This record gives sequence, C-alpha cells and structure tokens, in this order.
Amino acid sequence: MKKKVTKAIFPVAGLGTRFLPATKSVPKEIMTLVDRPLIQYAIDEARAAGIKEFIFVTSRGKGALEDYFDHAHELENTLRKKGKTDLLQKLKATNMDSGEIAYIRQHKALGLGHAVWCARRLLSNEPFAVILPDDVIAAETPCLQQMVEAHAELGGNMVAAMEVPDEKTSSYGVLDIKEDMGSVVSVKGMVEKPEADKAPSNLAVIGRYILSPDVMGHLNRIKTGAGGEVQLTDAIAQEITSADNVYGFRFKGQRFDCGSKAGFLQATVAFGLAHEELRDEFQDYLTDLGSVRNAAQ
Ligand code: UTP
Repeated sequence: MKKKVTKAIFPVAGLGTRFLPATKSVPKEIMTLVDRPLIQYAIDEARAAGIKEFIFVTSRGKGALEDYFDHAHELENTLRKKGKTDLLQKLKATNMDSGEIAYIRQHKALGLGHAVWCARRLLSNEPFAVILPDDVIAAETPCLQQMVEAHAELGGNMVAAMEVPDEKTSSYGVLDIKEDMGSVVSVKGMVEKPEADKAPSNLAVIGRYILSPDVMGHLNRIKTGAGGEVQLTDAIAQEITSADNVYGFRFKGQRFDCGSKAGFLQATVAFGLAHEELRDEFQDYLTDLGSVRNAAQ
C-alpha cells in the first residue's frame, strides 16, 4: 500500500533580497496578503491536504516566524473578555498544537536543495511534501490536496506545473515531457531556467512537490550545482534517471509569485477582491481608478 503524505517541509531560510529593505527585519513569509501572512496560506493548504507535521527550515532573523505560531494567550483572553468571538475564532484557527511543528536551521543559504536536505533527520522512509510559501495558489480545491489525491493513485514523485509563455521559461525549472496524460505528465528530464530556444516545453515547475525518500538520498550525495547552490531540481533529475517515476501535475488554480513585488501586488488585488469585508469597497476603488485612467488617456 502507498504511504500517505503526512509531513511537509517549508523552506523559509532564503534571504528574500527582492524585498529589501523590508526583509532586513521582516521575514518574507510574514508579509501580509490582506490580513494573513504568506505562511498562513501555506499552512492552511497543507492542512487541507492532510499534513500533520510541519517542518520549517529557517535561518537567522526568522524569529518573527516562530513567534507567529505561538499561542497568543493574552490576546485571546482580551478578545474573550470583550466578547469579540469572531476575531477570537480567527486567531485560534491559526494555533498549532504542541509537537505539530518543528524548526530546523539552515546555517547558510546554500540553496533550496540544501534547505530540504537539512530536514532529513525529521523524516523516515516516507514520501513528503515541500511547500514554498512565496508561491500562493488560489484554488477551489487547494493545490497540495489535488496533488496528494493524484499521488495516492500514482505514487512516485510529483511536481506542480503550469504553462508559462516562452519568454518566462528562463525563470523556472522546465519539464521535458515523456507522455502527456492531461492533468498529469510523465517526465523524462528537467532543465533549470532554460532560455526559450532551449526549453524542452512550456511546462514550468512551481513551489509544490511530493517527493520520495530516494530524492533525499540523492540530496545526500549532490554537490553544489548552478549558482553555487544545491539544486532540488538536480536531485529530482537523478530520480528521473534512476527510477523513472517523476510526474508533473497541472493543478487547477491561479498561482501568484509572491516572492516578487509584481506578483505580491497582483495577489493583494486578487485576494482583496475575494475578501468578504473588502470586496465591494475595493471593487469600487478599482473601478474609479480605471475611469480616472481612461479619462486621462
Ligand atoms: P528564492 O529563490 O525565492 O530565494 O527561494 P529567496 O532568498 O527566498 O528570495 P530572493 O530571490 O533573494 O528575493 C525559494 C524558496 O526557497 C527557500 C526560500 O526561503 C524560498 O521559500 N530557500 C532558498 C531556502 O530555504 N534556503 C536557501 O538557501 C534558498
């Protein structure tokens, strides 16, 4: 029987240089989309997919992230006394149980592959998920849940994938497709950040993975690759060669690259428009903004 995916690694040890100077003191993952930090979206998605253990790979300066997951007893008591039950419920929904969450340090930002490898002792011989919280995905069925369901059928390794325009392939890991089965493709290769004319397809990997323990084994042996970093892509590429069981999964939903300023702003607009309390006022504002711009043209 295939093992269930119950552990997820959240690599959050990157430097977040694209958001400097903010990230000088605020971890990128704590930055707020409307009223929830990025990391909360990732946790909620993982929980919906059946994840029970949350492993954070952190680094120096990420204290605010650890604090965020502490229970805020004083705040809870104050809200309770004031009868603010709605807010209290919202707050309590973010609580993590003791022992559910673990923090591991990555002492040097040596790349995503290295960050994942740092969590090796917290995993046994089981498949695990990797979630990059700066990829926020709006979806009716949360993306990781879609993947866990497909993984339960197929096993092996699965990476979330989406079509990107030619000029964008150089920003992603790109899949070399063996067989296209619709929402799932089997993969015969993976190329990190190819120029458009060298890209084997337009199917790009984004920040959701379900990986087998073998990939952790490859990470044990991999030396630094492109950019002097240990690339997760290299370990997955080895698995393609040795086990031929890597799949790309075309998820249903919209992905926002909240690791970039433009993506973060787009997500803010989308989530603002989807927010019950804000929707109408915000929509009116955007409509007014549009008419001012049209009048000016
Ligand atoms: P990014 O490529 O977005 O890098 O990492 P970054 O440092 O977060 O941001 P920029 O590019 O400097 O603005 C993708 C994911 O991998 C994690 C990051 O925290 C992010 O979730 N990561 C990256 C690590 O945990 N460790 C690393 O050494 C590198």
